[in-house]
Amino acid sequence: VRAAARRTLRVAAAHDLVPGVREVVLVAPDGTRLSEYAPGSHVVVTAGPLSNAYSLTGDGLAPRDYRISVLRRAPGGGSDLLHRVTVGTSLDVEGPACGFAPDLAARKALLVAAGIGVTPVLSHARAAAVWGRPVEVLYAYRHGRGAHVDDLRAAAGEALREVHDRVALRAAVHDALGRQPWGTHVYVCGPEPVIDLVVTSARAAGWPAARVHVERFEPADAGPRRPFTVRLARSGRTVHVPADATLLDRLRAAGVDVPHLCTHGVCGRCQVRVRSGRVEHRDLVLTDDERAAHDTMLACVSRAAADELEVDL
Ligand SMILES: Cc1cc2nc3c(=O)[nH]c(=O)nc-3n(C[C@H](O)[C@H](O)[C@H](O)COP(=O)(O)OP(=O)(O)OC[C@H]3O[C@@H](n4cnc5c(N)ncnc54)[C@H](O)[C@@H]3O)c2cc1C
Ligand code: FES
Repeated sequence: VRAAARRTLRVAAAHDLVPGVREVVLVAPDGTRLSEYAPGSHVVVTAGPLSNAYSLTGDGLAPRDYRISVLRRAPGGGSDLLHRVTVGTSLDVEGPACGFAPDLAARKALLVAAGIGVTPVLSHARAAAVWGRPVEVLYAYRHGRGAHVDDLRAAAGEALREVHDRVALRAAVHDALGRQPWGTHVYVCGPEPVIDLVVTSARAAGWPAARVHVERFEPADAGPRRPFTVRLARSGRTVHVPADATLLDRLRAAGVDVPHLCTHGVCGRCQVRVRSGRVEHRDLVLTDDERAAHDTMLACVSRAAADELEVDL
């Protein structure tokens, strides 16, 4: 997990792009430079008590600001709070971090976005336009709800295809996957059914898994949570985690201090080393290789795959 810088940024502008989606522009209050970032990066923004990840929509080169576009979801949630911030508000921002960077060895990128999943795809498309890298973009959105559609048109031109329903999306995905030059990588961000459509269609069409890149805004449903027990190797203590609690909750209740921020598997702050046992990963941070090693876990969401784990605490 990447260590991310944290700083306070100021809201320089905020406006609705389409109903329900608001762009928030963040700048350094003292005018200092912001870090460059890889296309597809996100920041973790803290609004009130809630910390959530938001993709940066720029190309990442010498950014003068960080722009995020937020879909309003649950009332009282972090996205709702970001829909209420006004110019001048200070927000704690951690990152940028990236789990969805373009593979620079790719011959071409096929970018697939649905709904608010457009945000990291726009970042990719903008960076590709700057560097002259070939892309093809597929954007599925409901009429009148296509956030950033003009920006994507500007970045991708003729290479953008817009669709407005599931049937058209399915046909467009199959068509696009079927006629890419060898060496193309596909990148998808959107709701789980769209991710699933692209991943399964790519697999069926013979695309190697290493050329299929996914950005999830929410963890795939990992099924019911089961109770488990954790041995703390350094102190010799044991902590029981019932089905309705998290390891982070139980560690804190037992007086064990574990750093944390988002509490939903997004920021990586609560990572603990695992000495033995298999982990049921439910985070959005670790890479596939890190997951497969079963030697680390995010205590705020992940659980034991069997009855017991031993962690390095
Ligand atoms: C890498 C990544 C990139 C993303 N990029 C984007 C993007 O570009 N645009 C976008 O719109 N979304 C993006 N998301 C999704 C985003 O991070 C949030 O998941 C989304 O905005 C959900 O917001 P919310 O308001 O429903 O959630 P939350 O803030 O989690 O709130 C959910 C509900 O739980 C309640 N709640 C949560 N925490 C607490 C608490 N501690 N105490 C009491 N109540 C609580 C809230 O009241 C609310 O009802 C991204 C996610 C990831 C992982
Ligand atoms: S606190 Fe953010 S991943 Fe656990």
